[in-house]
Amino acid sequence: ATERTLSIIKPDATSRNLTGKINAKFEEAGLRIVAQKRILLTKAQAGEFYKVHAERPFYDELCEFMASAPVVVQVLEGENAIAKNREVMGATNPADAAEGTIRAEFAQSVGENSVHGSDAPETAAEEIAYYFSGLELVG
Ligand code: CMP
Repeated sequence: ATERTLSIIKPDATSRNLTGKINAKFEEAGLRIVAQKRILLTKAQAGEFYKVHAERPFYDELCEFMASAPVVVQVLEGENAIAKNREVMGATNPADAAEGTIRAEFAQSVGENSVHGSDAPETAAEEIAYYFSGLELVG
């Protein structure tokens, strides 16, 4: 089915000017960028977005990092977009990411791992709504 997923190009990647190269990977995989904006999150906004990880030891570091430089938040659309995006991103830890994936090519560490992508239809809907209004989403 055609799905939408929420993607974030993280501070380590925007600061290295990799937005275009990462977007090319999505487009080459058949994903369409149907909404996109570059924003600077506050630590509190990053904390709200990642609240499911609030009890993890890396939570504070994760929130600091996500607020350390601009991010590009985007909605990707396509056939099985959620799984396809996760495939294109590669494993969370770049050391485990398959060759050719975004994290294998660009990520610096498990924390500074260049991209985020929703993991399921319910979280995709929630995460899209966190960053985008209905008016910003065209067909
Ligand atoms: P992401 O898919 O954005 O979802 C949660 C993020 O937490 C994850 O990518 C990683 O960047 C980050 N993360 C996971 N494990 C660790 C860790 N051990 N140390 C720092 N950050 C982590």
